[in-house]
Amino acid sequence: MEYSALTFRPSANIAELRESATIAVSQRAKALKAEGRSIIDLGAGEPDFDTPEPVRDAAKRSLDQGATRYTAVEGILPLRQAIATEANAHYRGADGVTAGEVVVSCGSKQSLYNACLTLFGPGDEVLVPTPSWTSYYEMVGLARATAVEVHGDPAQGYKVDVERLERHATPRTRGLMLNSPSNPTGAVYAADELRAILDLAAARAWWVISDEIYQRISYGEGIAPGALDVATRRDNLIVVNGVAKAWAMTGWRVGWTISPPAVAKAMAALQSHTTSNTATVSQHAALAALTLGEPVDAMVRAMVQEFRARRDAALPILQKSRALTVLPPDGAFYFYVKVPGAGSVPDAGGAFCHALLEQAGVAIVPGSAFRTPDWVRISYAADRAQVIEACTRIAATAEAMA
Ligand SMILES: Cc1ncc(COP(=O)(O)O)c(C=O)c1O
Repeated sequence: MEYSALTFRPSANIAELRESATIAVSQRAKALKAEGRSIIDLGAGEPDFDTPEPVRDAAKRSLDQGATRYTAVEGILPLRQAIATEANAHYRGADGVTAGEVVVSCGSKQSLYNACLTLFGPGDEVLVPTPSWTSYYEMVGLARATAVEVHGDPAQGYKVDVERLERHATPRTRGLMLNSPSNPTGAVYAADELRAILDLAAARAWWVISDEIYQRISYGEGIAPGALDVATRRDNLIVVNGVAKAWAMTGWRVGWTISPPAVAKAMAALQSHTTSNTATVSQHAALAALTLGEPVDAMVRAMVQEFRARRDAALPILQKSRALTVLPPDGAFYFYVKVPGAGSVPDAGGAFCHALLEQAGVAIVPGSAFRTPDWVRISYAADRAQVIEACTRIAATAEAMA
């Protein structure tokens, strides 16, 4: 059937956009599963747990009480107040965080997008510690700004420091994306490392977008340090967080920013022309997640404990293989691993993922998605026995290819 005489050509807005490699892998894994193959999918960045029952119950009650209409674009006040209260438990500066600085969005993904579009534009450069989550590069590009890759040192978990950032700075640098704990490396910045970077950004008048979505999934003492733990000023700081990962609430689509009021106002204006508020029922669920206290907090701790148990069980299997180099993660739920062929094959990670999926039935994500093609990302947000089995197959495949 002929739809139109028009030939589709992507607009200049999206001409450079790359398909998400994470989604491409999971689609291929699904296709193989549909053919009857038994596939272990360690591609997804999504907890395999259900949202805690008290949160689901609170959401159901809110529906019965009429939470079915539009809300303010920036979110319901009780939720924004709860987010501010939670932030003030960390922030040491004299000016407390207020609800007016909070914008609630359709997942932290939209929060990050709002921030990039609001702060950056043509001619601007944005420093992106590399490897980083694939969407940062694309979002900066959608703002028509340039993402400048700042490669970290693999021996330091690929973390960047002041010296590396300064080396890539130019008069056009407008901002910096930070992500701790990191997707894809699982690296966690210590408080003094974060402070040094924030001090540099403040001195250079760069915006800092600090994506702390994995903050509670941290294997050190307590939760991972965030920008608010170390910041003494916030006028260049946008903190991004949400309920998706720690509370196992990916499908509810609730994330938020804490930013200076003028930035918050501009982001809300942008959001008012795209999605308006995120789903009303989801906002009530997020409010419950943040305010019910125990037993929800205990459930979150139990999920983090299980992620830690999986990491501890699978890490030695990968480390035992001399064909692999593994970065031991301190947070999030990913192993970042250098594979055979690194340095000699152009897309060693992609070739490894392809062979692993087709021959060993394990789906993982090539490091090219994170701008480091010698590596692969393995998610351990899956059943523990499956993670162990998959890592055993990964090690065997690596040995065979080395
Ligand atoms: C680093 C990072 N930031 C943000 C997100 C988006 O999370 P949300 O579900 O809140 O949009 C993800 C999801 O994979 C992520 O890995």
